[in-house]
Amino acid sequence: MVWEMKVAESEEKMLAASLVAEIHEKHFGGDPRVFLAPGRVNLIGEHTDYAGGFVMPAAIDFGTFASISARSDGRVEIWSENFAEGVTYAADELPKARKEHWSDYPLGVLWALREAGIEVPPFSMVLDGNVPLGAGLSSSASVEVAAALALLSLAGAKMERSAIAKLCQRAENEYVGASCGIMDQFIACHGAEDHSLLLDCRSLEFRLAPIPRHVSLVIANTMVKHSIAGGEYGIRRAEVEEGTAILRQHRPEIGLLRDATPEDLERWSGEMPENVMRRCRHIITENLRTVAAADALAAGKLKKLGDLMAAAHVSYRDDFEASCEEADIMVEAAQGLPGLIGARLTGGGFGGCTVNLVEGAVAAQFMEQLREEYRAATGMAAEIYCCRASAGAHEVEIGG
Ligand code: GLA
Repeated sequence: MVWEMKVAESEEKMLAASLVAEIHEKHFGGDPRVFLAPGRVNLIGEHTDYAGGFVMPAAIDFGTFASISARSDGRVEIWSENFAEGVTYAADELPKARKEHWSDYPLGVLWALREAGIEVPPFSMVLDGNVPLGAGLSSSASVEVAAALALLSLAGAKMERSAIAKLCQRAENEYVGASCGIMDQFIACHGAEDHSLLLDCRSLEFRLAPIPRHVSLVIANTMVKHSIAGGEYGIRRAEVEEGTAILRQHRPEIGLLRDATPEDLERWSGEMPENVMRRCRHIITENLRTVAAADALAAGKLKKLGDLMAAAHVSYRDDFEASCEEADIMVEAAQGLPGLIGARLTGGGFGGCTVNLVEGAVAAQFMEQLREEYRAATGMAAEIYCCRASAGAHEVEIGG
């Protein structure tokens, strides 16, 4: 099957998958298959995905496992190990609408599969993940994609990875009710070890760029929670659409803001409210920065990449107004430390994590100092993770 990519699993991952299988057997019996989908960190390209633009995320070694086995009693049962809670329904009486509950994510995927004409037999599922929730590392997409792989396997259905990503995005947009773009689900499907991925969100064409071995991916959690179902994400999206509509009146070929140039904005910005103009300016310039960043990474020009990340943070903070005080403190603290290549707030904004590219040789020291500086400035204890760019979603063979 298209998504049955071969991945050299670490022992740790195989062990974690066996533990999920054990939990599954304890709750449901059966002989489950186990799937894993990663969270992600976005190196650059924020709020550009729904505008048809460019993003450059990497999948990370935090993720969600979904185990699955068939049932013969006509029911659907899903257990979340993280919430220590289960839901159960007759397979032909599933909720038609969201319940603002963790189960919306797997049930949304099941709904989207049915909408796509794929019938999934009654099943038991366990979900177990370690992506920090509300930290801007895409825990939701990792749940959706892991669930999708598990459900597809039980249905015996084949689907291309990009189609799986779109199906999961549909589940999140229409069932869960969060108006996200395609980035998170796409990288959860297409991630590659030690690589970031430049994605054109309009055509869904992508290219991988290796992250050099001497560069560490340090993710610093401000511990300020963000939620994309919360108001600000939707407000930004609406502002971007408002600006796009104004530009489209002059140039009808502007379908999405991705099609607009800096000159278009310059010419017609006077017709927009000031805040709308700045939101559009962020996206138009961010698209240029993102493509330039992918080129810089591919050419090994790390100084240039770092400068683009710094400019992206300023634009996200000042024009898009999607940062927060704590994230600004975290980025500024990083910028003063030895070994930093580039730092910025990553993800949907308004809290969550910063991404830091750091010289591997001094990464441990960098993390320690960053933690200290953040604590001194905010009184808060940040969680700081050293991640590895990881493979996209796949089945984990548990053997035995
Ligand atoms: C969230 C959404 C993505 C994207 C980012 C911002 O992660 O799920 O689709 O819009 O925010 O870049």
